[in-house]
Amino acid sequence: MVCIQNALIIKSLNKGKYTMVRDNNTYFPSSEWLENAHVNSIDKYNEIYEESIKGPDQFWASVADRIDWYKRWDKVSDVDYNEAKISWYLNGKLNVSYNCLDRHIDSGNGDKTAIIWEGNDPSEDKKYTYSELLVRVKKIANVLKSLGVKKGDRVCLYMQMIPELSIAMLACCRIGAVHSVVFGAFSADSLRDRINDSSCKILITQDTGVRGVKNNIPMKENADKALTNTPSIDSVVVVKRTGVDIEMVSGRDVWWHEETINASEDCEPVEMDSEDPLFILYTSGSTGKPKGVLHTSGGYLVYASYTHEIIFDYKKNDVYWCTADIGWITGHSYIVYGPMSNGATTIMFEGVPNYPDFGRFWDVVDKHKVNQFYTAPTALRALMKEGNTWVESKNLSSLRILGTVGEPIKEPEWKWYNKIIGKENCPIVDTWWQTETGGILISPLPAATPTKPGSATLPFFGINPVLLSDEGEEIKGNNTQGLLALKTSWPGQMRTIYGDHKRFFDTYFSQFRGYYFTGDGAKRDKDGYYWITGRVDDVLNISGHRIGTAEVEGAIGKANGVAEAAVVGFPHDIKGQGIYAFVTLMTGVNSSERIFESIISSVVKEIGPHAKPDKMQFAPALPKTRSGKIMRRILRKIAENDVDSMGDISTLADPSVVESLIKGSIQV
Ligand code: PRX
Repeated sequence: MVCIQNALIIKSLNKGKYTMVRDNNTYFPSSEWLENAHVNSIDKYNEIYEESIKGPDQFWASVADRIDWYKRWDKVSDVDYNEAKISWYLNGKLNVSYNCLDRHIDSGNGDKTAIIWEGNDPSEDKKYTYSELLVRVKKIANVLKSLGVKKGDRVCLYMQMIPELSIAMLACCRIGAVHSVVFGAFSADSLRDRINDSSCKILITQDTGVRGVKNNIPMKENADKALTNTPSIDSVVVVKRTGVDIEMVSGRDVWWHEETINASEDCEPVEMDSEDPLFILYTSGSTGKPKGVLHTSGGYLVYASYTHEIIFDYKKNDVYWCTADIGWITGHSYIVYGPMSNGATTIMFEGVPNYPDFGRFWDVVDKHKVNQFYTAPTALRALMKEGNTWVESKNLSSLRILGTVGEPIKEPEWKWYNKIIGKENCPIVDTWWQTETGGILISPLPAATPTKPGSATLPFFGINPVLLSDEGEEIKGNNTQGLLALKTSWPGQMRTIYGDHKRFFDTYFSQFRGYYFTGDGAKRDKDGYYWITGRVDDVLNISGHRIGTAEVEGAIGKANGVAEAAVVGFPHDIKGQGIYAFVTLMTGVNSSERIFESIISSVVKEIGPHAKPDKMQFAPALPKTRSGKIMRRILRKIAENDVDSMGDISTLADPSVVESLIKGSIQV
């Protein structure tokens, strides 16, 4: 149980400042405005938390009233982790797009700005009110219907951060179609595999994309390559973003702007069951191909909406900015569904933090008077490295709450964020969660939780984290470490892996019976605070992007001349983790610039540029056990340059391999 006491909070010190007191490195929320926060003391947090754990169904029933239901549920939850069976708000009926659009218009907020789109070029921006957005959503929803999309059909969205992406997502949920957003940096091959895995009927893409200095990312061209082998796709809708010449395939491709111009503005939202699928989002695991994580309508929306309001202390007139890409879960939950179900003004940013210069984030904050700013530690590290002059000329006084997500934030960047960006007056919420969890599970509440740099602190309401030993025993008490699992369900939890429920059970519920296993390790300190130590499986976290080692190894293995590859992570100053590839070439093939280049292009082709190895070492052999299993533990040590403590290598078939690997040269 949580044991931070209100008494620890010394409010009188430096009022108006986010003050560091007591216990060396603990920061207490103490600004005056925090007193009006949704949860404004640790006692209040403790009280609500306890209530949520004692009576979860009652708790989640009262939370679910925040959204509009055509019909309320018959039963709050029905969960059995032993069968990987998870249902929330059973037989409840709703429509997600109605909740994100019509509802706000009906309550008199139609003229409120829903999306502020900030283009890659600072001179380009657009604002859409809730009413304007609804018209656009209805029109494209009707276009999708005219192209034959029916409730339950899958629609793939392969786009950069342009407004049409959010509009298309909301149009899908209006008509009951299931969207599958594929991050715009994925290659044609990755796109093809994702389309085929969930047999998407339609693809929506754009001509080309702009991002930073790249002003012609060939989105449609990539899509065309992918579509040479995707039998389920009937039509392609193309958004004109840059206007460059592209090929349109007659009978298959249509322009978004041409189809929507005369489309009807009437489109009633379809009544959906709570457990009807809302979207599929592919994510990497430790083995096999990426998994289609499936989220459903009712529970996901309730959870995204509630966590967005409480964790960011969102208030009606706030301008909220999450810098993530919608191609990842953070964008789904905290650019689109959470903020929009709360009727918020949410910023959607097409660009990158360093274009046109390293002050871009802070220019956008000042330009739109951003109140909540949510980003990834990797972006903070990259900006911190460039010095404070990029920040000093900016005002930043609109900022109230700062957030991070995606990877552990270390003390230096936490302190920089607090001091240089937040001016020691903005609580930092370090939010831990996963594609699978749908929303944030462990995080401070800005006005309630004393924070410690690097700790995601305490579980959100209704969340029941435990630490397990390797044998699956719960490790009780504080000052301890183990494997992070969840003992009970929450409404935003994924329901299955699309098309493979057995894999869902095997991945998350088979290793430790009765628990959802996260794949992360964590420490619990003396105050019950969680410190995520990182993945304990073969999943890498590169600049907050999740990549499976097996996927990268597969891509390297497809390059000519490669016999075998093993990939591990290593600490990287900016990316958090970098990719280190050990490659064995076929007999008679020598390492060369050409082989190196062909390996890199194979990775870019198979996955995308974000999965390129940072370091590559050509090795005569890899360290294997006598049964032929690669000992990654040893490779990790070499990649981390921690070769003095190799541990036991006596089980290796050929221990001399280790020595030659240590001596081996590294090609960067
Ligand atoms: O290892 C954890 C790390 O990111 C993983 C989930 O990745 P993904 O599904 O892509 O979702 C990322 C955005 C929600 C986790 O298993 N992770 C996420 N947030 C944190 C984190 N590690 C440490 N601290 C965090 N705040």
